[in-house]
Amino acid sequence: MYIESYGCAMNFSDSEIIASILSKVGYIQTSDITNADLIFLNTCSIRDKAEQTIRSRIKSFKNLKSKNSKLKIGVLGCMAERLKNKFLEEEKLVDLVVGPDAYKDLPELLKSVNSGERAVNVELSLEETYGDISPVRLNSNNVTAFVSIMRGCDNMCTFCVVPFTRGRERSRDPETIVQEITKLYNDGYREVTLLGQNVDSYLWYGGGPKIDFNKLSEIKKASSVNFSQLLKKVAKINSNMRIRFSTSHPKDITDEVINTISKFENICNYIHLPVQSGSSRILKLMNRGYNRDWYINRINKIREIIPNCGISHDIISSFCTESEKDHNDTLSLMEEVKFDYGYMFKYSERPNTKAARKFKDDVSENVKSRRLSEIIEKQRIHSLIKNREKVGNTYKVLVEGKSKKSNDFLYGRTTHNLVTIFPKKKFSPGDYVKIKIKDCNSATLFGESI
Ligand code: 5AD
Ligand code: SF4
Repeated sequence: MYIESYGCAMNFSDSEIIASILSKVGYIQTSDITNADLIFLNTCSIRDKAEQTIRSRIKSFKNLKSKNSKLKIGVLGCMAERLKNKFLEEEKLVDLVVGPDAYKDLPELLKSVNSGERAVNVELSLEETYGDISPVRLNSNNVTAFVSIMRGCDNMCTFCVVPFTRGRERSRDPETIVQEITKLYNDGYREVTLLGQNVDSYLWYGGGPKIDFNKLSEIKKASSVNFSQLLKKVAKINSNMRIRFSTSHPKDITDEVINTISKFENICNYIHLPVQSGSSRILKLMNRGYNRDWYINRINKIREIIPNCGISHDIISSFCTESEKDHNDTLSLMEEVKFDYGYMFKYSERPNTKAARKFKDDVSENVKSRRLSEIIEKQRIHSLIKNREKVGNTYKVLVEGKSKKSNDFLYGRTTHNLVTIFPKKKFSPGDYVKIKIKDCNSATLFGESI
């Protein structure tokens, strides 16, 4: 069995759950695709380009399939969920289509596939969190790991396909999260990233779909666990285990969460807070649930409570009806906030979303490209400014591995999630090292241990 993952961290984490489910029924992992009798693609639907990449990857398997008559190809994840049976009609090389909530059915589905049928399960669930599965770590550096804490998304941003591909929001039992992280610590891991489409709306009240906290009975309220409470539980496992999380939502991140981050040394001072646009008019069309002022207010709050907190963004440029003024609002918001880092995209219309049904994707390709490059250029300058502020300071860096460029150097990250390169000396992955920053570029810090 060979698994290839695309898209967000949640997909990479799901692949570790899939590997665990299949290892229990005797499938063996290989990192050599030509050796495999089963190839899984864990797919992403977020933008059209992501889907095109998967389609060409599937076509590239034609040769392998003609050489190995036993070879089966399975498509998992968001694209499987979005296209369902249509996938089998459109892609003749595919034998199996399985959505993100149906992985426990894989052993049964593979039985049908191995007897020559093609199989599909794209059932979404209100309950499934895979909390009882102990993931098999894939391509691991043995220092950092992803831990899924919730699944699905109830937000219905008008541009986004995720609510359709990953279903309703539901939170995972905190006890299983604590157990998983404790085991990771005992196995030598020193950093976990808690994953969810919207971690700030994490709410454990015994399982099932997300409901409003105020609608819980008094008994359930008393025993419920929100994101801030979960962070505290997880941070207390061991002060040498670093905690990160992704992704926060500006409408839901609470002062309580920000205070918790500042209270625990091992919760990293880094927040990924997608803004999407700096124009309140566009944010409304996107159904983001906040406006420009609200967003800036959240940033100010973060900086007041956690000085020097690393903050990154996602921005979608050229959403439906975006004018030059709206675009300039995005640039001016970037100027006002000065993000440390960002992920920037051109709007890509996704079938069946509200934006596809109701609004016109009316910004020309040329204008989209120009606006996106202006945003990227601004971010590059800001990243450089932010990194330069770090030169001369000393930070605790968790070593993750050898630098790609030289065996004499190691790399790791600061609390702000900044990649830092420094001479190896006697250090190894998993060590915390105090590094004095000597130099930087817009993407990386360079330093020396002190
Ligand atoms: N087009 C472009 N970017 C998108 N994203 C989500 N949907 C789309 C889309 N239709 C971006 C958002 C989100 C990130 C994961 O991907 O910025 O935060
Ligand atoms: Fe992840 Fe979103 Fe892609 Fe699904 S569509 S794999 S949730 S990035």
